[in-house]
Amino acid sequence: MIGRQLCKVLLADGHALTVLSRKPETVPRKCGAAVRAMASLDEWQPELSFDAVINLAGAPIVDERWTARRKQALWDSRITLTETLVSRIAAARTKPAVLLSGSAVGYYGNRGDAALDETAEPGSDFPARLCKAWEDAALAAEQSGVRVCLLRTGLVLSCRGGLLGKMLLPFRLGLGARLGDGKQWMSWIHIDDYVAMLSGLMRDSQAGGPYNMTAPQPATNREFTATLAKALHRPAPFAMPAWLLKSVMGERACLLLEGQKVLPEKFSAAGYRFIFASLPEALNDLLCK
Ligand SMILES: NC(=O)c1ccc[n+]([C@@H]2O[C@H](COP(=O)([O-])OP(=O)(O)OC[C@H]3O[C@@H](n4cnc5c(N)ncnc54)[C@H](OP(=O)(O)O)[C@@H]3O)[C@@H](O)[C@H]2O)c1
Repeated sequence: MIGRQLCKVLLADGHALTVLSRKPETVPRKCGAAVRAMASLDEWQPELSFDAVINLAGAPIVDERWTARRKQALWDSRITLTETLVSRIAAARTKPAVLLSGSAVGYYGNRGDAALDETAEPGSDFPARLCKAWEDAALAAEQSGVRVCLLRTGLVLSCRGGLLGKMLLPFRLGLGARLGDGKQWMSWIHIDDYVAMLSGLMRDSQAGGPYNMTAPQPATNREFTATLAKALHRPAPFAMPAWLLKSVMGERACLLLEGQKVLPEKFSAAGYRFIFASLPEALNDLLCK
């Protein structure tokens, strides 16, 4: 989802792109006819050089129950893949200037109402351990002299998938519901801001370390539910009980019932001007597209 939009913007900026995909034949359709596809990192030979590497791979975290096998797939598609990527960077004759590598606000674990900037400690649940190991794997590229930015990504709002894509049908049917007590924080970001922030990190040679990729006004689940329902002119009178979500989803229900109030401190300090700083603005834009 993010990669497609990013390719569109980077192509318009005149960059030449290579996309790693398990389905390379779909890359020209999804990412643009001018984009070169790579089916495996084995194709990255040492003489091939890239100016920047952006690592957005990862098996979807919410779609399937977290069995031991699924957890392994989530781990391999992030940590093992990042380790391989970093070994290719180390082997390259000309190193990229920067590695922008995925992580998520789940890094912080379930933190109630605490406001979290980039200095906050990591959590200890499965998503937090996954993000910490993912970041550590990416940071190893610094040993090759490469600048590394860690993208602690919030809930990316797009009308083409992700969380919002999943919520739209029930909300349009008037079946929107807050989740549990609705007090959990949702640190969201409009996809246009996400892509602008990411390409800013790519160009700024001083940028490095972790970045909270979120809007400056996170919302509780109760606020998010009410704002989405209002934007769609539909009621959202229901509440999904926590016990029901837990029994249907198992451990991964923590992604919906818990949260973290994350603030984009480094972007704010650098004077980044958000295109969509408030949730009503972001949703109204996306729902009109
Ligand atoms: N969207 C969000 O709200 C959000 C929030 C926090 C973090 N993130 C992270 O940001 C990254 C991009 O997010 P997205 O929403 O754009 O995700 P996405 O649409 O699911 O794209 C992730 C890509 O990862 C590749 N992938 C999936 N399973 C894989 C596997 N088993 N092994 C290797 N590659 C695999 C797929 O590419 P191919 O099928 O082409 O191989 C897929 O297109 C992900 O790592 C995600 O965890 C996203």
